[in-house]
Amino acid sequence: MNFFRIRKFQVNNFRNLLTGPLDFSENLNCFFGNNGNGKTNLLEALYIFSNKKSFRKNVSFPQICSFSLVENPHIYFFATLEDHAFQKQHQISGKIGPIENEWYIDGSRLGKKNQFPNFKSIIMTPFDAHLFFISSKNRRDWFDRHLSKVNDEYRKSLQRYGMLIKHRNNLLKIKFTLDLLQIKAIDREIAQHMEILLKARHSFIQSLSEVLPSICFAIFGETVNLSIKMCTEVTLWNNLDIFECLQRNVVLDQKKGHTTYGVHLDDYEMIWNGQSAENYASTGQQKVSYFSLLFAYTELFRYNFKSYPIVLIDDITSELDTLRWKKLIDYVLSKNYQTFISTTSESVWEGLGNLKNAKKFLIKNGEVSLVI
Ligand SMILES: Nc1ncnc2c1ncn2[C@@H]1O[C@H](COP(=O)(O)OP(=O)(O)OP(=O)(O)O)[C@@H](O)[C@H]1O
Ligand SMILES: [Mg+2]
Repeated sequence: MNFFRIRKFQVNNFRNLLTGPLDFSENLNCFFGNNGNGKTNLLEALYIFSNKKSFRKNVSFPQICSFSLVENPHIYFFATLEDHAFQKQHQISGKIGPIENEWYIDGSRLGKKNQFPNFKSIIMTPFDAHLFFISSKNRRDWFDRHLSKVNDEYRKSLQRYGMLIKHRNNLLKIKFTLDLLQIKAIDREIAQHMEILLKARHSFIQSLSEVLPSICFAIFGETVNLSIKMCTEVTLWNNLDIFECLQRNVVLDQKKGHTTYGVHLDDYEMIWNGQSAENYASTGQQKVSYFSLLFAYTELFRYNFKSYPIVLIDDITSELDTLRWKKLIDYVLSKNYQTFISTTSESVWEGLGNLKNAKKFLIKNGEVSLVI
């Protein structure tokens, strides 16, 4: 199992950041700055460095590259990555451009054979819990994304299923010449994928639900009966039964112009002490549920990744009271995750910076400096 930590980090031409090499703590790193100074940008740079994509949706190269660069725009990364488990250090550099990206490890270009070290970061932003609870599409996306990462059969089936549903919907829209034979053939395949997806989803939420209350207690000291419920119309577990059902719905589907039965319409509900968290829990409680879910996933599936994640927390105090965010910090530190936290509160920053092995950084107009 790998156990990576980012020890040195420099990024050039990234948004408003103007950083020289930064020496990070292997435990806790706290960034303080007023609004609009570059805290989230620095966390985003760290996220891109570890995951090769941004956590912000639909981000393109021109958005992340500094506005001031007109000619030959490129973003450069330089970092020292330490693998604690194997007592090794790697020098990593990267060049992100409008067309192509290049990554090097210890001087060798990374390609198909030579892979990037197996490390990932997870991010918590003030909007995550809000986004998760705001729409079923977001929840579905969250579960699909996370389950796909740990279950390759699921990922492939989901891709194929999506294509088949799209194709079926296109056929249904051709009003007068419905090709029943073709729909029948598609339905057989759709049913097989539905069975795979359904079973994988059920076992995934069962595993998560089993550990959620204890994780919630470990992180927030909260005794809550927290679980996830699947909301699906597909109650049949066998692809032959699912196929029959799809076929019975063809006339209705043709009237509606789309496929009305299937796991693409599934939703998930977080249950907080017997009630739907979406409808009854406070904003803070929703945040607690969401973070518990994220860490339950991280804990459960760490072994699939064969690596400990790096934890990035943007705006730690937003919507969490002092007791809860302090417990959250205790939890990540007890897990030995290397952690990066941003805050707009000077007292929070001072307090965190005084913890053992913590480092404090000030961010002002994109300039990042270590404060001793
Ligand atoms: N491509 C870019 N080039 C230069 N500056 C950029 C670019 N993209 C964003 N910025 C600037 O980055 C700043 C926002 O930085 P960031 O979101 O990191 O702030 P923050 O410190 O997290 O603030 P808050 O406390 O409000 O969340 C804005 O001033 C914005 O104009
Ligand atoms: Mg921010």
